[in-house]
Amino acid sequence: MKRTLGVCYYPEHWPQDQWATDAAQMIEAGLTWVRIGEFAWARMEAVSGTLTWDWLDQAIDVLGDTGLKVVLGTPTATPPRWMIDKYPDMLAVDAANNTRKFGSRRHYDFSHLPYRDECRRIATLMAERYGKNPHVAAWQIDNEYDCHDTTLSYSDAAKRGFQDWLAQKYQSTDALNRAWGNVFWSMDYDTFDQIDVPNLTVTEANHPHQLAFRQYSSDQVVAFNKAQADAIRAHSDAPLIHNYMGRITTFDHWKVGADLDIASWDSYPIGFLSDRIEGTPKEKLKFLRQGHPDNQAFHHDLYRAVGRGRMWVMEQQPGPVNWAPYNPAPLPGMARLWAWEAFAHGAETVCYFRWRQTPFAQEQMHAGLLRPDRAPAPALAEARQVADEFAAMPDVGTANAQAALIFDYESAWAWDAQPQGADFEMFRLAFAAYRGLRRAGLNIDILPPNTADLSDYKLVLAPGIMSLSDPFRKALTTFKGIALIGPRTDTKTPELVIPNIMGPNLPNVDVTAILTESIPPNDKIKLQGGGRFRHWFEHLDGTAPVHLTTKDGLPAIMGGDHLRYLAGWPDDATFDKIIGGLCDTLDLDTFALPDGLRIRDTDTHRFVFNYAPTSQRWGDTIIPAAGVHWEKL
Ligand code: GAL
Repeated sequence: MKRTLGVCYYPEHWPQDQWATDAAQMIEAGLTWVRIGEFAWARMEAVSGTLTWDWLDQAIDVLGDTGLKVVLGTPTATPPRWMIDKYPDMLAVDAANNTRKFGSRRHYDFSHLPYRDECRRIATLMAERYGKNPHVAAWQIDNEYDCHDTTLSYSDAAKRGFQDWLAQKYQSTDALNRAWGNVFWSMDYDTFDQIDVPNLTVTEANHPHQLAFRQYSSDQVVAFNKAQADAIRAHSDAPLIHNYMGRITTFDHWKVGADLDIASWDSYPIGFLSDRIEGTPKEKLKFLRQGHPDNQAFHHDLYRAVGRGRMWVMEQQPGPVNWAPYNPAPLPGMARLWAWEAFAHGAETVCYFRWRQTPFAQEQMHAGLLRPDRAPAPALAEARQVADEFAAMPDVGTANAQAALIFDYESAWAWDAQPQGADFEMFRLAFAAYRGLRRAGLNIDILPPNTADLSDYKLVLAPGIMSLSDPFRKALTTFKGIALIGPRTDTKTPELVIPNIMGPNLPNVDVTAILTESIPPNDKIKLQGGGRFRHWFEHLDGTAPVHLTTKDGLPAIMGGDHLRYLAGWPDDATFDKIIGGLCDTLDLDTFALPDGLRIRDTDTHRFVFNYAPTSQRWGDTIIPAAGVHWEKL
């Protein structure tokens, strides 16, 4: 597969007589793809039922005739104003019961079935018109599910949908009351229509109630997406894509991904560092203009799996964004580094967001490949350079990974409902484990919780998984490498209840978590021989061998040769030590990577990325700040 570049473009923002020039310049810049349409509903259907396609026909023709391939977006993230008049109750409601108003975007409720039908209708109309258009080579459905916190809504539509969903799942309120433990605090229900959405309760709502609402809400995203996917597939063979975001766990991406052909995501490394990643002020300063050195890799690996091997970056930061608390410019070279890193992790295509910086509206301070006055912005030359470099590089697949990390959205909802300690968050724990693997220089696959075959891997981590699935548990029984399970794994039933035989219930390993502590940031559990746990610590009991203890002599890792349980949340240095020790046992090569350097292998080449703000040495090579180096394996 040839690696390609692209760009996001909004023909409706510019006079029509500029489209051909834009298209020609895109080709000159080495771009192959152009994504359009995803916010243009009001231009397609200014009045309910009156469709205006000429401008879109022409835009697709101009772009396609110039040699670009079009990704056509369905515009369902931006319903026009008339839609709100038609369905005033389609607006989402936040946890404080405020209606989220018209005037920006994503002003819809996933549970609102008439709006879902409207989305199916516009997707069908677009697919009928453009499904066989030779220039339309892929589709994007909607835009960034959950952006601006839009998965959960506490509206009447959500309440009704939730009640139906519960009735289907439990069949009787007796069954639901038993499953949720509603005898506690006299919370029993007699009928399903008594059950409310779990906001504004006096103190926390029952955890299974919260978890069920999360599951229900995720299912609405899956159904919303599938309605459009089915509508388009009826008329088009082009691949279907959604552009996911970074660090979003409110819906099950594995399930949405199962209905699509390619998983793409929107990568804003500098914006994310500033508003979505933990780190000391010193670390944040060091990577201020590069982004966190592991964040992009994590999401590439996650979405490569969500897309069953097919992954794109649909939006790549080209310069300062407008939406983070502070918006510095990338170091020169980063727009090239990010693209190469995506390709090393298996991306087929990287599209920069956006072509030309808009002079108007909310995103006028967001850089593009062109400035508002059409002059080239710095990232344009970097894109051109990447395109030239691709031409010289043979097509290569991603290398097999030695290590795997299990990632489960249900567990994220469970721990959001029941954090038990203010710092416990599923993504944060999984990302900490991932970073440890990556600092060791390993190639990593991220796997879904029902993974049934681990035979490709030597080292498997499964932190924070509420309850192990049967296929995964079975895979562990024959696993020949080392699986490090925990902390907080397999300690609850899928209903978020403590099982009768307390967990973890690991095959052939006698270990039980008998008491759980969460730890404030100013405390830690010290480990024998150095290292420490932060945030979380489980007291373990059982007859399995102890591999590591705390300074006080409590077990920190217990288990057999192939399957072990980790009792706490290691800090970074301790993750390094634990993973290093396991790699030694497994005879896996690790690297003492210099500051900010990260590596990823393809089939044929090792890529080395310098995220540090200063040059770094790799063997005999000096890699400048924001530099990329590759060598034959
Ligand atoms: C993304 C979104 C784009 C644009 C971009 C700005 O989240 O999909 O439409 O808003 O951010 O960085």
